[in-house]
Amino acid sequence: MPEPLRVGVLASGRGSNFRALVEAAHAGRIPATMVVLISDRETAPALAIARNHGIEALFLDPQQYPSREAHEKAIIGALEERGVDLVCHAGYMRILTPAYVAHFRGRAFNIHPSLLPAFPGLHAQRQALAHGVRVAGATVHFVDEGVDSGPIVLQAAVPVLAGDTEESLAQRILVEEHRIYPEAVRLFAEGRLHIEGRIVQIRESR
Ligand code: GRF
Repeated sequence: MPEPLRVGVLASGRGSNFRALVEAAHAGRIPATMVVLISDRETAPALAIARNHGIEALFLDPQQYPSREAHEKAIIGALEERGVDLVCHAGYMRILTPAYVAHFRGRAFNIHPSLLPAFPGLHAQRQALAHGVRVAGATVHFVDEGVDSGPIVLQAAVPVLAGDTEESLAQRILVEEHRIYPEAVRLFAEGRLHIEGRIVQIRESR
C-alpha cells in the first residue's frame, strides 16, 4: 500500500468542505490524511472542526506579518514542514501571491460554487440568480494566478428552481461541493490527473 496523500487545507470560515474531506478520509473513501488546517481568521469554525477531529489547527494571523508575501511565506513554510503533497483551498478568502501559486502549481486545489468559467469571484450564487441561469453548480479546479480560473478537475450541476433564494441555491450547490471535493482529492491521490495546458486529463485507474 502506498503512503496516504498528505493534505493541508486552507479555510477562512465555516469549514463544511474541510469537514467533508475529513469525513471522507476517516471513512477510507480517499487514500489521504488531513495533516493540518490553516486559517487566516482566529474565529473560523474550520479551526474548531480540525481540533475536534484531532487535526492540527493553525491560525496564522495576517496582521502579524509585514506583508502579504511574508504571511504566505509562513503558510508555505508550515505546509512544507508538514510534508504536504496537496493543498486544498476551501473557502480561503485571500488573494494569493504569484510566488505562492508558483510554489504549489499542480498541487493546489480550490472549490468554487459555480460552473466556471461562469461567475468567478465573490457571491457566485447571487451572480447566478441575477443572471437568470437555469443550471448552476460547483467546480473543483487547480489554483493558478487568476481568480477561480485554473484548470478544471471536476464539476457538478444543480438546477435553479423557481423561488430559489441565494441561500437555497447555495445549499443545493453545497451538497455537490461535498461530493466532488473528496472525489477530486481521490483522483489526485491515485495519480490520475494530468494537466495539459488548461485541460485536465483524468486517466483510467491502473
Ligand atoms: C464554499 O461555497 C466554497 O465553494 C467557497 O466558499 C464556501 C466555503 O464554505 N469557496 P465552507 O467553509 O467549506 O463551508
